[in-house]
Amino acid sequence: MLVPTEIQQELKSENVFSAMMNLSGRVFRDVSGRKTMQLTLGDKSYFIKQHFGVGWAEIVKNLLSFKKPILGAITEVNAIKKLNQIEIATTPLVAYGVSGCNPATQQSFILTADLGKIVSLEDLCLAWQDQPPPAKLKRRLIIEVATLARRLHKSGVNHRDFYLCHLCLDERLLAKGDIKIYLIDLHRVLINHNPSSRLSMKDIAALYFSSMDVGLTARDYLRFKHYYAQDFSLCTSSFWRKVEVRAQKLYAKFHSDKFQKRLAAEKRLLD
Ligand SMILES: Nc1ncnc2c1ncn2[C@@H]1O[C@H](COP(=O)(O)OP(=O)(O)O)[C@@H](O)[C@H]1O
Ligand SMILES: [Mg+2]
Repeated sequence: MLVPTEIQQELKSENVFSAMMNLSGRVFRDVSGRKTMQLTLGDKSYFIKQHFGVGWAEIVKNLLSFKKPILGAITEVNAIKKLNQIEIATTPLVAYGVSGCNPATQQSFILTADLGKIVSLEDLCLAWQDQPPPAKLKRRLIIEVATLARRLHKSGVNHRDFYLCHLCLDERLLAKGDIKIYLIDLHRVLINHNPSSRLSMKDIAALYFSSMDVGLTARDYLRFKHYYAQDFSLCTSSFWRKVEVRAQKLYAKFHSDKFQKRLAAEKRLLD
């Protein structure tokens, strides 16, 4: 467990771990076994992700499909440290803790500093449908995102929720014409020794899928490909074919009735 003294002083409890697990605030996400909230401690704003144990059913389901289950906050803690090393901006790690060894019931939390005024590329690009962005800004953003993805994947890191909503811009810098991108939500990150072609293909397909209704042109996608593929041997023509097929499948799945109902139910819970 790592909880700085300034945070501990705000908890007013001897049992730091349980006090952290009992903190509450403005809920941003509430899914089974995990809650993400914004809260204030002292005079500073933070985000906390609390994990309440995934349960054996989830572990068995993952193992049966040969996937390693994500048990708690430690995946995100290690991912933040790795992103710091490879100099990709992300949510600043402030505190974390894990309790228990039983993988199904293990509880954990991660506290990050609030990035303040940020806008996700999803929200920014949504506005482009009504008002197209300045060509230069769009071009710079595409190059920045492609370069970030390439650096990430070349370092053996895969995000596994690599959608526009998890790429955020610093709004204050943006107003001055500067682009600083934060890659957030490292909950499912996998770190490998070598770049993984399959996982990178999946990340790029996710990103492509999430950009499909934004109004990007064939030229914009070519530009992305060009910068992502620079000195990156896994970008073969078969890689890009697989990206295309997977992205189209994700798009169809996302727009299915079943998925839209699930999404609406999750949103209702937050209202
Ligand atoms: N440190 C942070 N600073 C600013 N916003 C954050 C921070 N952490 C999370 N958020 C916001 O909360 C949302 C949910 O957090 P995220 O990490 O995506 O959690 P989840 O794994 O539950 O999806 C994010 O999309 C972002 O809007
Ligand atoms: Mg998220």
